[in-house]
Amino acid sequence: MQQMPRRRLANALIMAAAVGAAAACGGSSGGGGTDAASTEAAQKALVEQGKQIFRFDTFGDEAKWTDNLRMHEVIASSVDPLTALSVGLKVDAEALPEAVVNGIRNGTIDLKSPATTVALLKLNAVVGLQGTVETVNGVDKLTRVGTTCALCHSTVDNSFAPGIGKRLDGWPNRDLNPGAIIALSPAIDEAMKKVLNAWGAGKYDPRHNIDGLSKPVVIPPAFGLAGIHRITFTGDGEDVMYWNRYVAVSQMGGLGSVSEPRLNISITNGSVDLVTSKLAALQAYQLSLGAPPPPAGSFDPAAALRGKALFEGAGRCATCHSGPAFTDANSLLHPPADSMAEPESPSYASRSATKQYRTTPLKGAWQHPPYFHDGSAATLSDVVTTYNTKRGLGLSSQDIADLTEYLKSL
Ligand code: HEC
Ligand code: HEC
Repeated sequence: MQQMPRRRLANALIMAAAVGAAAACGGSSGGGGTDAASTEAAQKALVEQGKQIFRFDTFGDEAKWTDNLRMHEVIASSVDPLTALSVGLKVDAEALPEAVVNGIRNGTIDLKSPATTVALLKLNAVVGLQGTVETVNGVDKLTRVGTTCALCHSTVDNSFAPGIGKRLDGWPNRDLNPGAIIALSPAIDEAMKKVLNAWGAGKYDPRHNIDGLSKPVVIPPAFGLAGIHRITFTGDGEDVMYWNRYVAVSQMGGLGSVSEPRLNISITNGSVDLVTSKLAALQAYQLSLGAPPPPAGSFDPAAALRGKALFEGAGRCATCHSGPAFTDANSLLHPPADSMAEPESPSYASRSATKQYRTTPLKGAWQHPPYFHDGSAATLSDVVTTYNTKRGLGLSSQDIADLTEYLKSL
């Protein structure tokens, strides 16, 4: 109940920003922007603006990644493109000019030279990284580097080569090893490097720098969230905006403020706010990203149909995974024991604002193994097997297979 006003405020902000965006584009010529066509145009403009922010905006976080962590030095001295790809960084093939494409194809571009990474950054082709490259005496020098949301929440379709292709925004980058990347910083001591290197690919701990504990969670998708009003594994916020502010300031190091009384957090970076004004557009873009449908032929339709009956019947899955997004998140959160990944130590829920878990939405689940917040189930089949065992469902191996096919079809 208490949350309603905040949600309304968020909606009001989106509308205000939408109208502002339309005005900025000259979209509503004196009419006040109330008719359906101009509202739609304003929404489109807002989403497009959000896309640019999601992909390219660092919120001034170079203060952390350059001034503090000195990642620009590491990249320029030792991160050649092959190394970058090996820690899960992705290259946007559409940002590459033809000469570069040909050079990669015929081997004349050296993928073992850090200078090539700097050249890719200059082309704005490294997904989630923004570099400033200055030419000093004819030599390109990387002087600033920062990160964007796309670092963790975009990948590419590998259409050019593994790790190089068209952007897929909202898809979690489960190849990315954020801990290993941050551990390359010369500003970090050995003890901290050990912690960071233990996280592994596809995982990140967005609470470590707050509470000092270390137990990473899988990077979730930023798609399929429209209509869901509990955000994060633990349902901390009612809209993505809530969490976007948290991450932009407290994790990325963007300039601005975040406070969360439930976690006793109040952080301000810098003396300007480069975050707040972008949140409405950023949210609009994320809400425009639907979950990707399962690839053709990726599941057995007859088995999936039988699995649907189990999901709603003997498996009792639909008691929590209900509605179009397969979650009861808008009505309740669950005690830690309802997560098949618990008990764990430290409990992720215990570190959150709610101390509970949200039933994870399941649209597009086929796309992002491993499952559960800690990634403890490698496949959807493992998920079903875990439920069957822990909840004593008594499903046969045929049932488990059918239920798995259903999950693959969502
Ligand atoms: C270093 C990797 C990283 C970066 C950068 C990052 N995130 Fe995340 N994001 C995560 C992780 C890990 C979680 C899971 C946290 C949780 O649920 O407790 C998450 C959760 C989310 C969620 C919640 C999804 C859900 O199912 O409720 C959204 C939305 C999101 N991030 C959007 C963003 C946006 C927008 C940005 C840029 C402002 C961003 N993230 C930057 C790693 C990252
Ligand atoms: C009591 C409520 C409840 C029931 C019943 C339930 N789930 Fe869940 N489900 C959850 C919660 C909460 C999570 C988040 C757990 C976590 O991440 O630790 C979850 C997570 C999942 C995930 C992981 C999604 C991801 O992206 O990580 C899958 C898949 C899933 N459930 C499928 C099922 C199936 C299949 C059934 C029936 C056999 C089922 N669930 C029954 C509450 C429930």
